[in-house]
Amino acid sequence: SAETSTALRVPKTELHIHIEGALEPELTFALAERNGLTLPYAGVEELRGKYEFGDLQSFLDLYYTGMNVLRSAADFTELADDYLARAAAQGVRHAEIFFDPQAHTTRGVALETVLDGLEASLASSERRFGISTELIACFLRDRGSEEAARMLDELLEHRQRIIGIGLDSAELGHPPGDFAAVFSRARQAGLRLVAHAGEEGPADYVWQALDVLGVERVDHGVRALDDHELVSRLARDRVPLTVCPLSNVRLRGVENLREHPLPRLVDAGVITTINSDDPSYFGGYVGDNFRAIERELGFGETALREFARNSVEASFLRESRREQLL
Ligand code: HPA
Ligand code: ZN
Repeated sequence: SAETSTALRVPKTELHIHIEGALEPELTFALAERNGLTLPYAGVEELRGKYEFGDLQSFLDLYYTGMNVLRSAADFTELADDYLARAAAQGVRHAEIFFDPQAHTTRGVALETVLDGLEASLASSERRFGISTELIACFLRDRGSEEAARMLDELLEHRQRIIGIGLDSAELGHPPGDFAAVFSRARQAGLRLVAHAGEEGPADYVWQALDVLGVERVDHGVRALDDHELVSRLARDRVPLTVCPLSNVRLRGVENLREHPLPRLVDAGVITTINSDDPSYFGGYVGDNFRAIERELGFGETALREFARNSVEASFLRESRREQLL
């Protein structure tokens, strides 16, 4: 239909994509073989069959296990190339890509290997795929603020290779406020700031992300709807939320797509963008998320174009390229 083609073709940016969550089972097996690793699954279909989650933690367990096959810089290059090819087919023209440095350094893969590998793909992404790219390094909140502070020191040795920092992994019990000093130091270094908040955690974590960390966008943020004052604040200050509809369903944040809070956020005047989060694990890339909200929530062509426009405006793109995409 015309709407389906809008969902896929409208120029958009992706602001909430974990590159390790774009690891498709086919590539998992290819990299395992190349690296001499044996996987505890008979094949691709068996692995894909494990992608049934009860909550965020049950996903994270598989996500951190899966990325064990990423060893060399070339592995990260292939992963990023694979994502870019799929994203390009769904209308993505710019991507601000999350990666989890600690998930690699803690298993003996150097930060430099990860950065070299990703950059070997991303440096030519615009020419090869029509997608400009930036990297955002996320801290694993469940590993605490001291380890995050040490990782920031290491990241600052590569300051020019990333555009910003984020905060992800298991949310409950790990409030943003714990990372105040880390974020403050990153801000002083000129890094842009985002954080996951209000995915499984309470609205109070979204307040902390805003008021303690000073983030420019909130990743997920859907639990903000539990707090009217917070919703007003997000709308008034035009703080974008990077919403991930298929992710929220697959991690059981909502019963099904028809119950998704996206329409309520839009009605309240909150700036929202549509994103894939971990596309290999959650059943779709960003265009698939657009199609899903079109089909299940009844967003029409005008609304889909508005989400795409929001994604360009909420990006950290320089003005000249931003205008190209609007
Ligand atoms: N939430 C928190 N941490 C994550 C996610 C997510 O959806 N994906 C990868 N790390
Ligand atoms: Zn995420």
